[in-house]
Amino acid sequence: MRIWPSLCVLFLPLLAEAAPTRSNRTSSIAVVGAGFAGLAAVGRLRELGFEDITVFEGSDHFGGRVYSIPFDKARLQQGAQWVNGHDNDIFRIAKKLGLIIGEQADNDVYVRADIHTGTCTINRSVIDEFYNFTDPLEAKYRKMGQDSVNYATALGDIYAKDYRAFVKKVKRRAAERNMIDALSRFYIGFWEGEMGAFYDYALSNFHFWDEGEDGQAKSYVLNSQGYWPISEYLKSFVPDEMIKYNHFVKKIRYSGAKVEIRVQEGAKSFEYPKQFDHVIVTSSLGHLKRYARSMFEPPLPQKKIEAIDSVGYGNLLKVFLVYDKPWWSFNGSSIAALWVKGCSPTHPLMEYIHTITKLEWDKDVLVAWVSARGTIMIDGVCYGRPKHSSAEGDDSSALGVQQTLLGWWVLGDGGTCDFEDLLRWRGDSSDDLPNDCWSV
Ligand SMILES: Cc1cc2nc3c(=O)[nH]c(=O)nc-3n(C[C@H](O)[C@H](O)[C@H](O)COP(=O)(O)OP(=O)(O)OC[C@H]3O[C@@H](n4cnc5c(N)ncnc54)[C@H](O)[C@@H]3O)c2cc1C
Ligand SMILES: *[C@@H]1O[C@H](CO)[C@@H](O)[C@H](O)[C@H]1NC(C)=O
Ligand SMILES: *[C@@H]1O[C@H](CO)[C@@H](O)[C@H](O)[C@H]1NC(C)=O
Ligand SMILES: *[C@@H]1O[C@H](CO)[C@@H](O)[C@H](O)[C@H]1NC(C)=O
Ligand SMILES: *[C@@H]1O[C@H](CO)[C@@H](O)[C@H](O)[C@H]1NC(C)=O
Repeated sequence: MRIWPSLCVLFLPLLAEAAPTRSNRTSSIAVVGAGFAGLAAVGRLRELGFEDITVFEGSDHFGGRVYSIPFDKARLQQGAQWVNGHDNDIFRIAKKLGLIIGEQADNDVYVRADIHTGTCTINRSVIDEFYNFTDPLEAKYRKMGQDSVNYATALGDIYAKDYRAFVKKVKRRAAERNMIDALSRFYIGFWEGEMGAFYDYALSNFHFWDEGEDGQAKSYVLNSQGYWPISEYLKSFVPDEMIKYNHFVKKIRYSGAKVEIRVQEGAKSFEYPKQFDHVIVTSSLGHLKRYARSMFEPPLPQKKIEAIDSVGYGNLLKVFLVYDKPWWSFNGSSIAALWVKGCSPTHPLMEYIHTITKLEWDKDVLVAWVSARGTIMIDGVCYGRPKHSSAEGDDSSALGVQQTLLGWWVLGDGGTCDFEDLLRWRGDSSDDLPNDCWSV
């Protein structure tokens, strides 16, 4: 998987011109956010000799979207999981800490998926035909993305054209067409998981995306601690006293000689007593989309607002299902439990659960990948533990997979498979602070 393209660091080198003598190592600096970007910024500033730094973190811990749920002696990675490419600092840190245990092709979860199609059996050659159709697409879109005339073209539009041409080629029975449509949704879901977006993913991303090395899209797999030790490593350069937890920054005023910051701490909202020469904001794009107009005074320059408004982004949520023992069988890298018209339960959420994977290091845990609108929809379902019920599920059948895994969850119909625990973030918090773990 590639890094979710929502990292957005806004540098406001505010008073450098107004007060040049301040722009020295005695400058006071506020950093908003103690995720990877915030922690790394502080580490670098200290390396350059700056010590007067205050980090405002809205949640009660550092790590941001890399924060993971402790699980036995390991961590469940709700956010970042793979290291993308080897020519980058994250890889170097992961290597130094001995975290890397393997590698994986970026499209592995799609290419090697076990396809399940509910109560209908699917002709394998239909799947092969579809994969034959999608195989060359990424290379084609990548190539198109190198040409500036295509920069603004949306991936969704160009794919829709290709897909129409593909289905037109052969006249099919309705049932087969439904199957193909379901496969197409899976392909789109894979992109949403991979890139965080599909319909409004601009082809220029292919051009500007830095693959790190020779365009080789390779992901490195980490051990059971995942990204967490990297957070701790980055945090090791940031003294505890520098971080103000539970300080949610509501307002940044930067027109005067100093930057003033208004924070929310629990129910309390107040002007932070210290003022700063500079501020570095590391809120996510989702956060900025929601607050960019209210967060800054004076407002951000129109150009920045337009950029924030116009950049598309996606949502991605992992749901961890913990069982006492595995009841499933996987041949490939993942389960794609397709929502096929007439063959599957028809809850709309199924469209957004594109992939189910297992953990490398714990055989009893399934991970359901939910993307796009599904991340928000999922907050409306799944309250409480699943009920025990007479398990007649045939685990290996497609129906078994869909209904045992998703039936009770999506349809609330009691279900057939008893899990011990379900862990996830709240989906709607991707617009806000991304750290709110949920467990039933
Ligand atoms: C499901 C998922 C899977 C991913 N998989 C991968 C992967 O495999 N590989 C990979 O490289 N990347 C992956 N990513 C992306 C990666 O996790 C993020 O790019 C990275 O963590 C972003 O770091 P950040 O510091 O920019 O932002 P964040 O981690 O979002 O940190 C921002 C911090 O700022 C705080 N904050 C925000 N606004 C305010 C405010 N107003 N006041 C105070 N505090 C505030 C937040 O609480 C948070 O702690 C994934 C992300 C997700 C969600
Ligand atoms: C910054 O500090 C250094 C000493 O640390 C000093 O030599 C330099 O003149 C200062 N620069 C400014 C712009 O104040
Ligand atoms: C599967 O599809 C192929 C090609 O579309 C066809 O030749 C074959 O007869 C089909 N098999 C079944 C069992 O329907
Ligand atoms: C898919 O492509 C392969 C390799 O080109 C070919 O051998 C196979 O017949 C194709 N399958 C279908 C169903 O089109
Ligand atoms: C796994 O592979 C075996 C043998 O190829 C096959 O019989 C079985 O149906 C496959 N199971 C799944 C879930 O795809």
